[in-house]
Amino acid sequence: MFKIAIIGQKGGDGKTTLTLGLAVAATEAEQSVAIIDLDPQANAANWKDRRVTENPAVISAQVSRLKQTIQTAQDYGADLVLIDTPGRSDSAAIEAARNADLVLIPVRPQIFGLETLKGVRDLLRVAGDPLAYVVVNGIHPQVTKGVETTRTLIETTFGLKVAPMHLCQRGSYAEAPTIGRSAQELDPTGKAADELRRLYMFTFELLNKLDGEHYEQK
Ligand SMILES: Nc1ncnc2c1ncn2[C@@H]1O[C@H](COP(=O)(O)OP(=O)(O)OP(=O)(O)O)[C@@H](O)[C@H]1O
Ligand SMILES: [Mg+2]
Repeated sequence: MFKIAIIGQKGGDGKTTLTLGLAVAATEAEQSVAIIDLDPQANAANWKDRRVTENPAVISAQVSRLKQTIQTAQDYGADLVLIDTPGRSDSAAIEAARNADLVLIPVRPQIFGLETLKGVRDLLRVAGDPLAYVVVNGIHPQVTKGVETTRTLIETTFGLKVAPMHLCQRGSYAEAPTIGRSAQELDPTGKAADELRRLYMFTFELLNKLDGEHYEQK
């Protein structure tokens, strides 16, 4: 079972959107998925209440019970656990990162979000420097050429890796959760679906490679 933590110090930069999108992409790839919602706002858990499909499961949990909750997901046969975290809780972000194989950090390409990445990098250090990638979110679909500059800025200024794909600002990301769906379920052949699938494949390949390396080291 793989575990991905989705963290960030800025509220509203897309942690829950990314969590739900990746979770649904993984279910479409026949994975059994559990989302652990550490956010007292409970956006992911509330999303599940509006949803009819069983997979992904969503478990609302407290930070102090994260390890046990991960174990429960494993006992129930989850292939993948996604940990959604609140925006302004360093302790939740650190604990999620510490327990994850991979950390994703969605950030919008604006200064108020980007400048929080220094704090995120420090949190990652405290969490033992897990494998981590920033995912640039909310790029204007018609103005994508600036994304390379943003990527380079993040890598050089904050020393963080950046995923080679990004998510654009699209109505479907905002609209889908209102009916307990994720963007790719509104339009399975649309651009959001393609972005999420590519991001899922990227994470899947990273985790499997990591697993192979662990295996070789044993
Ligand atoms: N790529 C996108 N396109 C359109 N809307 C988006 C996109 N990403 C996020 N949003 C919208 O922005 C808002 C904030 O996103 P989201 O709730 O995922 O952020 P968050 O990091 O989980 O916030 P919080 O820290 O409050 O938990 C939501 O209304 C969501 O629908
Ligand atoms: Mg959220």
